[in-house]
Order: sequence, then structure tokens, then C-alpha cells
Amino acid sequence: MKKATITGWGKYLPPNVMTNKDLEKIVDTTDQWITKRTGIKKRRIVDDDTTTSDLAIKAAKQALDKTNLKAENLDLIIVSTVTPDMVFPATACIVQDKLGANKAAAFDLEAGCSGFVYGLSVGAQFIESGLYENILVIGAETLSKITDWEDRNTCVLFGDGAGAAVLQPTDKGGFLSFDLGSDGSGADALYLEAGGSLNPATLETVKNKMHYIRMEGNPVFKFAVKKMKTASKDVLKKADLKIDDIDLLIPHQANTRIIKSARRRLKLDKNQVYVNLPEVGNTSSASVAIALAEAKDKGKIKDGDKLLMVAFGAGLTWAATVLEWNENI
Ligand code: ACO
Repeated sequence: MKKATITGWGKYLPPNVMTNKDLEKIVDTTDQWITKRTGIKKRRIVDDDTTTSDLAIKAAKQALDKTNLKAENLDLIIVSTVTPDMVFPATACIVQDKLGANKAAAFDLEAGCSGFVYGLSVGAQFIESGLYENILVIGAETLSKITDWEDRNTCVLFGDGAGAAVLQPTDKGGFLSFDLGSDGSGADALYLEAGGSLNPATLETVKNKMHYIRMEGNPVFKFAVKKMKTASKDVLKKADLKIDDIDLLIPHQANTRIIKSARRRLKLDKNQVYVNLPEVGNTSSASVAIALAEAKDKGKIKDGDKLLMVAFGAGLTWAATVLEWNENI
């Protein structure tokens, strides 16, 4: 059975930067509080006319350019997002059309901030089963569009962006294991309650601000700290590896305190963990995808390196994978 690996990577961040100082003018917060409690210094925010698919396409083109593939060679496009362009059709179909990927199947996947790693696992299964060979997995978000800019508990955390990976078969290395999970009993810790079948959009839902992200920060924080460690250990066990075998940890970028705690609990050095949170904030599904593309472009990933990617998010969900990077497939 062939394994799947990543042969192309890309990212796109919209140009408009919002700093903590900018946020000080909008809500009752300070640069000092945000930096100390989250590690975030700035984030990118799209303009009104830019959609999630716009960001996704830019990241996807970069990822395809790194491979020997054209869009028409793609068999499948998976877009992981909590901010689709519309409830339906799937944002993946909009991406498929605009890329000209005329033979690709396409669907969206929603698993909160774990979505990109969930997407990698789905893409890898299609390759390992032999059904498909060339798969594009994208994590893309315009969280600024579902952010309540009067809620200091959430608006300081999130940013917009997209990351993409092309998956192809390999005889060497590739994805060595996955660990996915969920705990829906924590659904009420992080949610957007209106616009679905529970609370269809009405004047009331708009007036009551029910189309924005709501979050209980503390339970999510505790869940994250626990799951970053246990999912990492479980995925390593499935790959028959030890933490000493890992060259680089690429964690979901939500809070530097969560990342630090994972690093300490896993006994990794600082330089073994990729962190871009201060610059981009929490970009949900796009977070691990953007960090992976940046780490690769900065020369932090070499042939044969073993990467541990781990994420948690709304659901609540978690997802981890070990990937043995290979340059020449
Ligand atoms: N500026 C200033 N003060 C603030 C702010 C702010 N932006 N936000 C909250 N505070 C205040 C609170 O009101 C509280 O004041 P009080 O003590 O007078 O009541 C105080 O700061 C402490 O608030 P806590 O919520 O206890 O702060 P905490 O240290 O837990 O940090 C945070 C909050 C950063 C949200 C943290 O809980 C966290 O990172 N949680 C995880 C969130 C997360 O990762 N979410 C994304 C999940 S992924 C996905 O699917 C999108």
C-alpha cells in the first residue's frame, strides 16, 4: 500500500495588518494584556470584498506551483473552514471552479481549528486506498467576518489567512500515523449559534448578535493543554516513535501559553517548535497549514525530518499526525 505525503505547500495572508494597539482603540484592552495572556502581537484582516475562497485559491496556487501538477490533474479538493463563503455550495466547489480543476471532486470539512489536520487524514486515506493520487487540502478562514468587534474576550484572538498542501503517493516516508478525536459535550465552549437549523437567521438573531463567535476561554484552554499532550503521545505511539524522533512540532497557533505547556510536557527544545502566532493570531483551520508552509519556506524542514502536527478546536475536536518529510518522491 502506498503512503501519502506532502509535495506542495503554500500560504496566503491578506495585506491589512491589525496590531494590538489598533485593538486598544476598539475595545477595552491593552497591548500588554494581549501579549501576556496570548502571545499575539498582530493579525491580518481581510477587506469587506474578500472571501474565504479568495484566500484559499491564492494559497492553493502556491502549493500547486511547488509540484509537477496543474489544477486539471487534481482528483480531489478538500477545504477545511468554519467561515465558508456561503452555507452552501461548498467553498471547495468555488475553489475547484476558479482553479480550473475540472476533474476534481470537492467538499468542505468542518472540525474547528483541527480542520486542516482532519483534512490531511481524509486526503491521505484516499491515496492509501488507491482511489485518488493528487489531492489538494486547504485550510482557509476569514474569522474577522464572524468576530464580534465589541467582545474583547474573542476579538483579540483571531486572524484571517489560508494555507494549502498537495498530497501525492510516495514509497518512502509520508504520513506515518493520525490521531483524531472529538468531545461534543464541550460544544458549548466555542460556537456560533445562529444561521443553521437551530436558530435560522431572523432580525432577532442579528439583533442579539448570534452570528458571531462565542467562547468560554478557560474550558477551551484546559482542554487544549491536555489534548496537545495526549494527542501527541497517542499519534507517536501509533507510529511506533518516541518524542526524541521528532524534529519539529507544528502546533495549532492559539495561545503561546498553550504551546509552551505542550513543549514542556513533551520535553522539546524551543527551537523544535514552530511558532508564528505573534504575527498571525489564531487563524483556526488555516493555522497549522500556514505554519507548515512558513516553516518549510524558512528552511526549517529538511529531507527525512519527522514532523508532529497537532491541533484542537471547536467541537471540541483534536487531531494530530506524524509526517516523515521527503523531498524526492
Ligand atoms: N483585554 C483585557 N482584559 C481581558 C481581555 C482583553 N482582551 N479578555 C478578557 N479580559 C479580562 C477578563 O474579563 C478577566 O477579568 P476579571 O478577572 O476582572 O473577570 C481577566 O481578563 C481574565 O480573564 P480570563 O478569561 O480568565 O483570562 P485567561 O487567562 O483565561 O485568558 C484566553 C483568556 C486568552 C481567551 C484563554 O482562556 C485562551 O487562550 N483560551 C483558549 C482559547 C482558544 O484557544 N480558542 C480557540 C480555539 S480553536 C477554534 O476552534 C477557533
